[in-house]
Amino acid sequence: MKIVVQNQKGGVGKTTTARNLASALLHQRLAGGVVLADLDPQGHLTAMLPQTDTTAAADAAQWLCDAAARPAPVPGEAGLALFRASDRLPLPAADLAMPEAAPWVIVDTAPGWSDLTVALCRWADLVLCPLEPDFLGLSGVARLFERFTEHGLAHDRLRFLLCRHSARLNLHRDVQARLHERFGAGQLLPVTISNSVRISESAGFGRSVLAHAPECACAAEYLALARVLAGNAPKQDKRNVA
Ligand SMILES: Nc1ncnc2c1ncn2[C@@H]1O[C@H](COP(=O)(O)OP(=O)(O)OP(=O)(O)O)[C@@H](O)[C@H]1O
Ligand SMILES: [Mg+2]
Repeated sequence: MKIVVQNQKGGVGKTTTARNLASALLHQRLAGGVVLADLDPQGHLTAMLPQTDTTAAADAAQWLCDAAARPAPVPGEAGLALFRASDRLPLPAADLAMPEAAPWVIVDTAPGWSDLTVALCRWADLVLCPLEPDFLGLSGVARLFERFTEHGLAHDRLRFLLCRHSARLNLHRDVQARLHERFGAGQLLPVTISNSVRISESAGFGRSVLAHAPECACAAEYLALARVLAGNAPKQDKRNVA
């Protein structure tokens, strides 16, 4: 299962979702192994994880170009490995052919849209788009949809995830209803991620929210997201489901 986490809008929860989804898959043994690839030169995903031994490991630039590239194991999280960020990402050829590094690969992307984004979205099984439930969030979804059309990308691989959601806010409920009406339950994921300071805290400690605050609603929500996406996995990955 190749998941690219993408939204042109910044600060919507892309990196947070990539990081916590990986841990949630491993925690429930829904994946035999997960590789995270930090394709954002800001390097936030790399910074969120405990320091890795990078001597023999490849970075994201090498992953894009070298079939022999190997990620660094993430200390303290069995089954998790990382292609750390690079600030010299190459312009990819039209089609990407990265090595099968693990049954699950989750790619965190930079905000904005580039040739690399197009190539990654073409390569992915699913493009997961976190968004905040407000007007700008809806406008970002519309733009992403247009970009998919412009580049001939299959819209049915898009999944939308409401982040920093608060069920008691009318605005959030309205946006959720509009997205549901537009995309239906298939593409608007039936899980929302609540707003919680535990998320920012956990990033600072280099831990997933599951490890940092297992009682937090967000921990249960990322576990539920992992179950939903594992249900979308292509057939050959089912052997990894415990
Ligand atoms: N559910 C949440 N509740 C509270 N804070 C959150 C939540 N999700 C993310 N945040 C916080 O919001 C900020 C932005 O999150 P994140 O870095 O994941 O967004 P991003 O889309 O990857 O940003 P960028 O576009 O810069 O890469 C971070 O400080 C993060 O801790
Ligand atoms: Mg990010």
